[in-house]
Amino acid sequence: MMKNKKVSMAVIRRLPKYYRYLTDLLDNDIKRISSQELSKLTDFTASQIRQDLNNFGGFGQQGYGYNVEDLHKELGRILGLDKTYKAVLVGAGNLGQAIANYRGFEDSGFKIMGIFDKNPKMIGIKLRDVEIEDVDEMSNFIKENDIEIGIICTPKEGSQEIAEEMVKNGISGIWNFAPADLKLPEEITVENVHLNESLFTLSYLLKEND
Ligand code: NAI
Repeated sequence: MMKNKKVSMAVIRRLPKYYRYLTDLLDNDIKRISSQELSKLTDFTASQIRQDLNNFGGFGQQGYGYNVEDLHKELGRILGLDKTYKAVLVGAGNLGQAIANYRGFEDSGFKIMGIFDKNPKMIGIKLRDVEIEDVDEMSNFIKENDIEIGIICTPKEGSQEIAEEMVKNGISGIWNFAPADLKLPEEITVENVHLNESLFTLSYLLKEND
């Protein structure tokens, strides 16, 4: 992989989709695929796919296409999915529980080691073998367990403070579901997931098509 080249965010955002389709292809025992075939599956143009993959050195061969297993492995490595990440989740309400209960994240290498909430009624409840603890315990837990990722599923209020506390204790990546734009040091990676924004985009497009 070319190390020094800065890959655009647009390319990075397309990689998980390639990876998802390649996982399906692998599961279906497909050994190779051309960029044209990949284009039909993903709805990206063949030249876009070739360009995207060329950012990392290009893995195809003229006249052969891509070896599915090799490309899947390489993309997994590029996406950082060849390692396990330790995460904590804060806010064990409706959303937090759904995330903590979803086995697929752990299967992809993201292990939720600790779950925290401020509501005393939640403390001690188990979500997939992890007991919910008081949020006051979070800082020590992060330090003691070398946690890298913090998942925030609390309301907007308090989310900034939680994020700061996470960062202070060594967390470098935040998966933020709270409807807040967190202000954190530049070196901290924040990935916001705002389902509302996606829903509102759907609403806009529906209106356009009316
Ligand atoms: P909820 O009320 O069911 O759960 C919130 C939980 O956070 C509660 O258990 C509460 O005790 C806990 N909490 C609140 N402040 C805390 C703090 N300072 N420290 C630790 N725990 C704290 O709410 P729900 O439905 O699970 O939503 C949670 C958040 O996720 C809300 O901010 C909501 O707006 C947001 N949300 C975001 C979505 C997205 O796409 N990003 C989709 C759905 C909800």
